[in-house]
Amino acid sequence: MSNEKKSERRRVAVVTGGSAGLGRAIVREFAERGWDVAILARGREGLDGAVRDVERIGPRAIGIETDVADRKAVEAAADQVERELGEIDVWVNDAMVGVFGEFLDTDPDDFERAVSVDFLGFVNGTRAALSRMKPRNRGGVVQVGSALGHRGIPLQAAYCSSKHAIKGFTESVLTELLHDGSAVTLSEVDMPAMNTVQFNWVKSSLPKHAQPVPPIYQPEICAKVVVDVAERPRRRTWVGESTVFTIIGNRLGTRVADWYLAKSGYSGQQDGDPGLPTLRPNLYEPSNQGDQGAHGAFDDRSMRITPQTWAIRHRSTTYFAAAAAAATAAAATAGALRRATR
Ligand SMILES: NC(=O)c1ccc[n+]([C@@H]2O[C@H](COP(=O)([O-])OP(=O)(O)OC[C@H]3O[C@@H](n4cnc5c(N)ncnc54)[C@H](OP(=O)(O)O)[C@@H]3O)[C@@H](O)[C@H]2O)c1
Repeated sequence: MSNEKKSERRRVAVVTGGSAGLGRAIVREFAERGWDVAILARGREGLDGAVRDVERIGPRAIGIETDVADRKAVEAAADQVERELGEIDVWVNDAMVGVFGEFLDTDPDDFERAVSVDFLGFVNGTRAALSRMKPRNRGGVVQVGSALGHRGIPLQAAYCSSKHAIKGFTESVLTELLHDGSAVTLSEVDMPAMNTVQFNWVKSSLPKHAQPVPPIYQPEICAKVVVDVAERPRRRTWVGESTVFTIIGNRLGTRVADWYLAKSGYSGQQDGDPGLPTLRPNLYEPSNQGDQGAHGAFDDRSMRITPQTWAIRHRSTTYFAAAAAAATAAAATAGALRRATR
């Protein structure tokens, strides 16, 4: 770490689950934009890899071995970040583990462990962040949500319930911040299926290799949106066409969605290719099989950018283009009406 004077202090971000998958891409994106970054995860190799990524780019980084399900460990990590990097400006809750399989085939201990990490890990992170930010009346928390926080799918009951719980939890706490007139922000960014490491180390009782339900997005584009929101907080952001379709489609036709998911949700989450990599499951302990980086095994099928992801990253251009299109359509309709009534 370089020795910087307080007056030159860079902004400080904490990313839970920043050693792999989407979190790793978020860490790099913060570093690219000049933030110092603290990475909280369990596996040392991934943490060291993420720290190296940041330091190669330029800012400072620390990687703290932390299990986000352990409230005291999260508090201790937050203290360490503030001692070593300075006051936390943004806290991103990203860490997750998975158990794939039908509800009744899932070991109850595994289910509880997944909820402890996927939901209570976010609660612990939010508490650690807000208890430091609120007295300063400054800072923000970004929750990495999912389309599956709006719509449950088969074979991932623990994960889907956690993502729904995060949404309710975030709404409750947000209203408290508003009630108190706090300037601290709380945002949720809901993600589509991404090509991350998750599917290589998820604990699974499925007959085939787990896969994200296509269409699959590369984590980098989603990471850019997370850091956009960290820098310019927005209450809620949906990333990816499939996220928008899932959320709105489910609102319009829940029973159709039930039927569709019952039909397609099993095959859509599995890939029969025997060559796909499988790592030790990281449900209770880190996988510890080397630094895995951000990407999973589906590079050949994943999109780096799409119209929706471009549009939400360039909102003013999008709004301007939409307004111009609406004005052109209105003028054309008015002209047609005038001609028809002559
Ligand atoms: N991939 C998708 O298709 C998808 C879709 C929608 C939303 N998301 C969301 O994106 C976020 C990241 O998912 P991902 O797919 O990138 O997952 P991932 O590839 O499995 O990475 C998970 C990260 O969390 C860390 N982690 C796991 N358990 C932890 C614990 N108990 N304490 C601290 N860190 C822990 C892992 O490192 P260690 O194991 O070393 O601790 C790793 O850094 C999640 O919030 C997920 O809900 C993902």
